[in-house]
Amino acid sequence: EFRPMPEDRFSFGLWTVGWQGVDVFGGAVRPPLEPAEAVHKLAELGAYGITFHDNDVFAFGATAAEKEAALKPLREALSATGLVVPMITTNLFSHPVFRDGGFTNNDRDVRRFALRKVLDNLDLAAELGARTFVCWGGREGAESGAAKDIRAALERYKEAVDLMTQYIVDSGYDLRIAIEPKPNEPRGDILLPTVGHALAFINELERSELVGLNPEVGHEEMAGLNYAHGIAQALWHGKLFHIDLNGQHGPRFDQDLRFGAGNARGAFWTVDTIENGGYDGPRHFDFKPPRTEDFDGVWASAEGCMRNYLILREKVRAFRSDPEVSEALETARVPELSQPTLSEGETLESLRAEEFDPEAAAARGMAFERLDQLALEHLYGVR
Ligand code: GCO
Ligand code: MN
Ligand code: MN
Ligand code: MN
Repeated sequence: EFRPMPEDRFSFGLWTVGWQGVDVFGGAVRPPLEPAEAVHKLAELGAYGITFHDNDVFAFGATAAEKEAALKPLREALSATGLVVPMITTNLFSHPVFRDGGFTNNDRDVRRFALRKVLDNLDLAAELGARTFVCWGGREGAESGAAKDIRAALERYKEAVDLMTQYIVDSGYDLRIAIEPKPNEPRGDILLPTVGHALAFINELERSELVGLNPEVGHEEMAGLNYAHGIAQALWHGKLFHIDLNGQHGPRFDQDLRFGAGNARGAFWTVDTIENGGYDGPRHFDFKPPRTEDFDGVWASAEGCMRNYLILREKVRAFRSDPEVSEALETARVPELSQPTLSEGETLESLRAEEFDPEAAAARGMAFERLDQLALEHLYGVR
């Protein structure tokens, strides 16, 4: 029971299970993990895909021959297991040259270098059949006030994304860009800090139809926001291109816990929104197996992400098919919200002429507590 299968479409970043545990206070606790080994192990666990940054597979500055040598065992592992690469992303944050970011670095030469790195990676994404290209601008930001002209930085950010979509169209690639918001860490303040900021930015782009979002659970929660609401709004705009699932305990450093750990109630509504809100992309995990773990713990943590998703999916289905829940939804007038406020053909004049007793309406409760208690009882496993 709750065995992950390829048709569940679970995918993992190579940087997740491959994280060696290096943090601000200490060095590696685990040896490097070969990408090919990660592919075999994730396939055994029931995943269907992997994702990666260019430099998760080959070193920064690798020659064409070195890249190919590093990609070869990965390609072999993919064809041996049948795993796919639905998404690729670029590391524009680790090397010291990106200390002030890539696309929005004050240094124009660095911005041009970042663009070249991204163009190379777009070619690789297309070659491997990826459909989504994630842009997480972790170093695009500032710690201090005068150092960054935010309006100029956004203009350069737009320029970079516009050049990327132009290149995608000119090359005939079947690729879309997904911007991943994050409020802070590693920069003190990161540009495009939340789903809302990123959506507004996308509206200013030349080919905005090719650009959407890759929201991460923990990043919205670091900003004190409701992740399920964030992805619901992204869906409403037709912009939920990809998702980064993980766990977080409220506003603090980016914990990248396994999915389902951290805010469990939030995870329930997240799965409900993903399953019932019209998202049909991969269920992608971006977590970090804690530093306490050896490789057994890494695989237990990866398996936990998928199992927690399946467990919550079952609970969400049970909640949605519970007759008492349907009745409570009616009583709470939830379906009524889908009814347009003005009827078809009705005029504002007739609306204005309508009689209404606000005191009587004010006296009726909304009956939300009973409904929410039913949800919690499904989550807590007593229904
Ligand atoms: C984070 C981010 C990153 C990005 C990844 C993809 O935890 O701060 O999620 O892990 O998702 O770099 O570009
Ligand atoms: Mn994160
Ligand atoms: Mn992420
Ligand atoms: Mn991450």
